[in-house]
Amino acid sequence: MNFNTINETETAPDATETEAAYKEKALSEFELRLIGDYIHDYCGIFFEDVKIQTLAMRLSSRMAVLDIGSFSEYYNYLKFNPRGVDEMAALIPRLTNNETYFFRETNQISLLISRLKGKKQSGNVAPFRILSCGCSSGEEAYTLAIMLEEAGVYDQRKIEITGMDIDQKILQKAESAEFTAYSLRAADSERTERYFLKNGEKYILDERIRNRVRFLHGNLLEHNIYGKFKDVDAILCRNVFIYFSDAAICSAVESFYETLADDGCLLLGHSESLARITDIFFAERHKNAMFYVKREMCDE
Ligand SMILES: C[S@@+](CC[C@H](N)C(=O)[O-])C[C@H]1O[C@@H](n2cnc3c(N)ncnc32)[C@H](O)[C@@H]1O
Repeated sequence: MNFNTINETETAPDATETEAAYKEKALSEFELRLIGDYIHDYCGIFFEDVKIQTLAMRLSSRMAVLDIGSFSEYYNYLKFNPRGVDEMAALIPRLTNNETYFFRETNQISLLISRLKGKKQSGNVAPFRILSCGCSSGEEAYTLAIMLEEAGVYDQRKIEITGMDIDQKILQKAESAEFTAYSLRAADSERTERYFLKNGEKYILDERIRNRVRFLHGNLLEHNIYGKFKDVDAILCRNVFIYFSDAAICSAVESFYETLADDGCLLLGHSESLARITDIFFAERHKNAMFYVKREMCDE
């Protein structure tokens, strides 16, 4: 018996089978790309071709819930089914990274507070308006409220802080104001004791700080959402654009420009930049931190 011959006929795929498998894989990747582009147009999050299999993994649990067996069927469901909107809301938490913590990049927040305190002397009595865009579970917005209180800004002026996020599930967590030690890893023990009540493994935020922040469900790319705000003093959009395409960043930043007061400022995460994306904002660099101001308002 010639074992080689038997093995070859048993295991080697014939040419038509290989071609069929190749075509199926290419079709499946094409369908995935369609979903990736649809998600990108919806919320700005972009899965590059090298990350397309990550997208496939994230879709698989939703497809299983709906008992959908192919990417093309899922794409059609998202796009054309009347329940597609609800499905997108259920999918979003699987696509976003919600990493955040209290007192993250505080140099930048201190810089913002000095700027606001400087403005205070101008005689304007309107409240300071601050947006935390892509606020996740609220740590950034609550940190602002704490640091503004510590700096005595609430004694001088009313302050409106709004946290906005596309992920409804994470906003529920923000509103609950209950955190774990992990969220407080950059907080010193004095602040932890002063602002949180420990209950088992949970840290419950002081009611007074909690009441100083409101949360709003919204998509940064939806222009209408900004209609609720006018003459905003500062927009924090930190660690959100790392997942966006340049085109999506451009679109969000144009809305920020219109929403900010002429002397307002924009704070991005330390690894994020608008260089080579848009020149409507100008980077104002300080010793330990930087923020963006409207270009036409700056003394370049
Ligand atoms: C990594 S977290 C950043 C949290 C916080 N800004 C910080 O720096 O600690 C990114 C957040 O952006 C939100 N996000 C992503 N795309 C969004 C969009 N199109 N509109 C609103 N929020 C979005 C995600 O849901 C996620 O909660």
